[in-house]
Amino acid sequence: MIYRFRRGHGAVPPSREAIPHGIVPHVLGPVNFDPRAPSNGATRSHAHPTMLIPILLVATLGHVLLWAAVVNRAHGVNLPRVAGHVTSALCLLLLVTIPLLFGGWIHVAGWGTFLAAFRLWPVPAPGPMLAALYVSVCAAVAVLALARWMWRNVMSGPPSVVRSQHTRILSLRGVGEAVTSEEHAHHFLVHLPGNQMLHLDLSERAIEVPRLPAALDGFSIVHLSDFHFTGRVGKAYFREVVRLANQAQPDLIALTGDLIDSPRCLDWIPEIFGRLHAPHGVCFVLGNHDLWSGYERVREALIGSGLINLGGRWLVVEARGESLVLAGNELPWIAPAADMRDCPQRDSRGGPVRIVLSHSPDQLPWAQAHDADLMLAGHTHGGQVRFPLLGPLLTPSRKGVAYASGVFYAPPTIMHVTRGVSGEFPLRLNCPPEMARLVLHAVEPDPPRP
Ligand SMILES: [Fe+2]
Repeated sequence: MIYRFRRGHGAVPPSREAIPHGIVPHVLGPVNFDPRAPSNGATRSHAHPTMLIPILLVATLGHVLLWAAVVNRAHGVNLPRVAGHVTSALCLLLLVTIPLLFGGWIHVAGWGTFLAAFRLWPVPAPGPMLAALYVSVCAAVAVLALARWMWRNVMSGPPSVVRSQHTRILSLRGVGEAVTSEEHAHHFLVHLPGNQMLHLDLSERAIEVPRLPAALDGFSIVHLSDFHFTGRVGKAYFREVVRLANQAQPDLIALTGDLIDSPRCLDWIPEIFGRLHAPHGVCFVLGNHDLWSGYERVREALIGSGLINLGGRWLVVEARGESLVLAGNELPWIAPAADMRDCPQRDSRGGPVRIVLSHSPDQLPWAQAHDADLMLAGHTHGGQVRFPLLGPLLTPSRKGVAYASGVFYAPPTIMHVTRGVSGEFPLRLNCPPEMARLVLHAVEPDPPRP
């Protein structure tokens, strides 16, 4: 049965109670399911607000992903610290207020007005059209994100260059030497149940580097990053991280920035980083938080503590009779990156191997363009909070969560992104801090043909 109501002909529409269940009056103007909202005509509709629930749930997910993506990009470029905080606050405000405004508008205007906005003709009013457009964009973002997640986590495994990897989580709560009880004092958030700020993941990854000379097979690097000295995590924790790094007996130690986050912790540098040692040196680049903490003083203190500065420069290290080029890139925060034009060129065997230290994983194209074999980066902290199934939402990168952590292979460059040792905000959920030991391997030569 179809009810058609015509205007101005004296037809009296039946009351809502008189309409059989399952048949919904559909107005000629905006469709309205809300009994409080006026109707201006009638025809039939097959839609019902409950059908919108799955779409709105998907759109809500897309809404969260959309604003998280804006925050990620804002923190992946060279914005002043205050501008970054303002952007994050604005995004959070929009994240909360847009659904509230949408709910309030639906409450007043009714679902029919919203549904009618999806029609191409007659052209809907600007407000409903904007709402329909935003919901559609959010739903599309969620679907695309889901497809990308499926590709990364289900369809493709670790890159072929990862020969093996294993991890071991060690609780450093109250562990290690402390000169004063203050050195074990942490921000109250650190003590929240489930917070993994003091649960260090000792990860070990064996990586095949295609052009690594056979003499360097087994060369090991401890990759540390993002210490973020603020005083919110006590000094004893970092002293223990350094002890474990030395205990791993790497050939080289690489620090990839965000070492300091408060000028009042400058005097921690000699005590903590000055204790690191490796046969081929402890080298470093700086990150955005070092820049905001007075990076010239940070750099001087690190050099004064015996560390090798790679900020905007390259150098050659001799190891096992082979040469290694180590280069630094602190872009986009501290320019310039190392000028590689005078760097030793490749010999007939493919050497010397080039290793780039960069704070941001977004510099991967730079490393590729300069023929780097390996790039080490931090900055993303692995997202600090990883949701079940979804993974991290907030990673400060122009590529969003793509380079949150792990090994990536974009020939000729292999990139390792560590989750880092700590963080400015002392909260880590399902995302423990990391000390990564990388063992480089030469690719086995093809067996001789009989
Ligand atoms: Fe950081």
